[in-house]
Amino acid sequence: MSDFTSGFWSIYVIALTLGGIAFCAWLLLTTGKGVAPPTEGGKVGTTGHVWDEDLAEYNNPLPKWWSNLFWITIVFSIVYLVLYPGLGSIKGVLGWTSTGQYEKERGDVDARVKPLYDKFASMDLAAVAADPEARAMGERLFLNNCAQCHGSDAGGARGFPNLRDGDWLYGGEPAKIVETITGGRLGVMPALSAVLGEQGTKDVAAYVRSLSGLPHDSLRAQLGRPLFEQNCSACHGADGKGNQLIGAPNLTDAIWLYGSSEASIIEGVVKGRNIAVSEGTLAMPSFKDTLGPSRIHVVAAYVWGLSNRPAPR
Ligand code: HEC
Ligand code: HEC
Repeated sequence: MSDFTSGFWSIYVIALTLGGIAFCAWLLLTTGKGVAPPTEGGKVGTTGHVWDEDLAEYNNPLPKWWSNLFWITIVFSIVYLVLYPGLGSIKGVLGWTSTGQYEKERGDVDARVKPLYDKFASMDLAAVAADPEARAMGERLFLNNCAQCHGSDAGGARGFPNLRDGDWLYGGEPAKIVETITGGRLGVMPALSAVLGEQGTKDVAAYVRSLSGLPHDSLRAQLGRPLFEQNCSACHGADGKGNQLIGAPNLTDAIWLYGSSEASIIEGVVKGRNIAVSEGTLAMPSFKDTLGPSRIHVVAAYVWGLSNRPAPR
C-alpha cells in the first residue's frame, strides 16, 4: 500500500534515489579518470595546491580497493531496491513489508502458545485463576495492557477503578469481567447543576455524603434528599446503591472513584463525568481485537482472582 498522498511524491522519491545513485557512479567514473598519475620519471605529480608554505598534495587516484568498495555499495543499493520496498511506492520483488513480518512473528508466537490458551479456554474462570501458570500469564498480560490505567497492582487511581477491592461498577462475576474487557465501558453521568442550582447542588452533595456516613450538614442533606430522588436515583438507585447495568457507582460505601470530598462530588454534578468535556473522557477501551477471546479469558481470570480467592485445585 502506498502511503503517499499523491502519485507525484512516489515519482519524486524514485527520481531523487536513482539520481543520487547515478550521481555517485558518475563521480567515481569522472574523478577516477582525470587524475591518472602524471608520472614524470616515476614521480607522482602534485595537484598544485600548497598549504602552510610547503604542504603539497599528491595527485594520486583513489586506491582501487577503495573505489571498488564504492562500486559494491552502488550494486548493493540497486539489488536492495529491486528486492525490497524503498523506491517510492514500488513494493520490491520479494513483497516484504514490516507489517507482514510483524504478523508472521506474531502468528508464530500464537501458534506456539495456542495449545496452552486452548487448554485454559476450556476451563472456567475460577479454575484458570487457580492455575499458577495461567496466573503468571494473566499478570504479564495485565502489566502490558492494563497497568498504565489501573496501576501495576490493579489498585486503580482517580477515575480508574480499583480492581482488587471486590467492589464493582459493572459487576465482578466472571462473565461480567469478560464482557467489560471485551467490549470496553463508558459510564456517563450528565451535568445536573443547571437543574439543581447552586444551593441545590450543595444540598445534594451533603445528602450523598450522608449516604456513606461521612460528616455532613444535616439540614442541607435533608433538603438534598428529594433532589436526589428526582435527579439521581434513576441511575444511582433510590437507596444510592448504584446500578451495575450502567456503571453508576454505589454511593453508600466507602469506595470512591473520584473522591468523597464535597468539592469532588460537586465537581461531578457541575461538570458531569465522561460527557464530552475538555478534561477528556475516562473510558475503558475494548480489547476485543487487540487481545482476542483466549487472552481476554486468561487476563479476566487474573483480575477475578485478585478479589476472589481461587479454590486450590
Ligand atoms: C486507557 C485506560 C484503561 C486501560 C488501558 C484499561 N482500563 Fe479498565 N477501565 C478503565 C476505566 C476508565 C474504567 C471505568 C470505566 C467507567 O467507569 O465507565 C475501567 C473499568 C474496568 C473494569 C470494570 C471495573 C468495575 O468496577 O466494574 C474492569 C474489570 C477493567 N477495567 C479491567 C481492565 C483490564 C483487564 C484491562 C487490560 C486488559 C484494562 N481494564 C485496561 C480504563 C482502562
Ligand atoms: C444518567 C445516569 C446518572 C445520573 C442521572 C446521575 N449519575 Fe452520578 N454517576 C453516573 C455514572 C455512570 C457515574 C460513574 C462515572 C464514571 O464511571 O466515570 C457516576 C458517578 C457519580 C459520582 C462519583 C462516585 C465516586 O465513586 O466517585 C457521584 C458522587 C455521583 N455520580 C453523584 C450523582 C448525583 C448527586 C446525581 C444527581 C444530581 C447523579 N450522580 C446523577 C450516572 C449518573
